[in-house]
Amino acid sequence: MSNRTFTMIKPDAVANGHIGGILNMITEAGFRIVAMKMTRLSGEKAGEFYAVHKERPFYGELVEFMSSGHIVAAILEKDNAVEAFRNLIGATNPANAAEGTIRKKYAESIGRNAVHGSDSDENAEIEGNFFFSGLEKF
Ligand code: CMP
Repeated sequence: MSNRTFTMIKPDAVANGHIGGILNMITEAGFRIVAMKMTRLSGEKAGEFYAVHKERPFYGELVEFMSSGHIVAAILEKDNAVEAFRNLIGATNPANAAEGTIRKKYAESIGRNAVHGSDSDENAEIEGNFFFSGLEKF
């Protein structure tokens, strides 16, 4: 069980002015922001980030959406971070997201769902390394 996870604030939430609201929910829930940057993914980079979903029917739509605007990438720290953060963001589909979760408040649909959160310690490490160098993560 690692104490770090990785998140992205997705293009829908950035475009709609929700960076501050989402970061506030994250820090209020007791996560420490270890590293953070606002950037953009090219189509190629978005495809690489979501390569595990390559065979899914929504892959093309996902890559197009994730490269459609700015995102905020961050590494977060808290005990049992992956599970704690998935509880904070709520279900992938906002229709199923619990009250008080980030997706309940900010997600528009299953695709435009405001935030990403790593689904395992291993993926948290891989995804954090995708955006941040060793010194930035220190
Ligand atoms: P995320 O946690 O970033 O990881 C994979 C993403 O694929 C997921 O959030 C959703 O935004 C997206 N996704 C999953 N299922 C669908 C779907 N049926 N249609 C469009 N996007 C989807």
